[in-house]
Amino acid sequence: MSKLFRIAIDGPGASGKSTTAKQLAKKLGFGYIDSGAMFRAITLKCQQNNIDPSDIANKDKVTEIANNAEIRFPTLDQVELDGQNVSELIRTSNISRNISLVASNWAVRDILANQQRKMAKGEIPGTISTGFERHGKLVKGVVMDGRDIGTVILPDAELKIFIEADVRIRAQRRFDELKKREGDALTETVDDVERDLEARDLADYTRKIAPLLKAKDAITLNTSHLSIEEQVDAIEKMVLERV
Ligand code: CDP
Ligand code: CDP
Repeated sequence: MSKLFRIAIDGPGASGKSTTAKQLAKKLGFGYIDSGAMFRAITLKCQQNNIDPSDIANKDKVTEIANNAEIRFPTLDQVELDGQNVSELIRTSNISRNISLVASNWAVRDILANQQRKMAKGEIPGTISTGFERHGKLVKGVVMDGRDIGTVILPDAELKIFIEADVRIRAQRRFDELKKREGDALTETVDDVERDLEARDLADYTRKIAPLLKAKDAITLNTSHLSIEEQVDAIEKMVLERV
């Protein structure tokens, strides 16, 4: 297989990484890997098995869960866990609140890192890239978003982006998303969502293993005042300048 053009997108929660990554992948015909969804899926599987990841005594059980979880991305919008569509189940606030304990488990990170690198090479099905034509050549690639993609998972990615946005704007975006999904059943306010995001940011920025960090060679994109289309166009332009 010819070499894939790999785009690493990192940044804090609700900054616009996955929306941008998905639309970019669609435009370029690239594969898409949502690494956050993988941590979410492991958190969900722990809950389904009544395993509390905060209990140190459960460390081995959490590792076993990660080892045996089959996570796939059959389409840009779908996440499958052991053959089940969990796309909606993994996005609840409950999962977001409990995920940091799973994300700071080094054994889980190691297992998922392995899978993420294989996915980026197209070695795991579901991330196939059809690519696009450029200067008479077919360019194939993959977009992966998360917290440590440009620093740990794909340190030699062809393009690295670090997406940022003001925390209040991020909270409002996540709130709107939850409201759309849960309607009147939503009990949280924008302030609650902002507090949760800040707590998760802090855990992500300060954890010892694979913290959220801008790679030295990453390009910062602040999306506070950008539309989704502008975000996607900005990165697409960077890709076209490099192929
Ligand atoms: O969508 P949002 O940015 O809120 O979160 P996400 O990308 O789905 O990631 C959820 C959580 O998984 C993050 O807060 C991190 O704790 C963890 N994560 C990680 O540690 N490393 C990654 N590469 C991706 C996510
Ligand atoms: O993946 P991450 O957690 O960084 O963020 P996301 O899930 O892609 O984006 C969070 C929400 O912000 C989504 O509902 C997007 O539609 C919305 N949004 C955005 O990403 N960019 C804008 N300029 C405006 C809204």
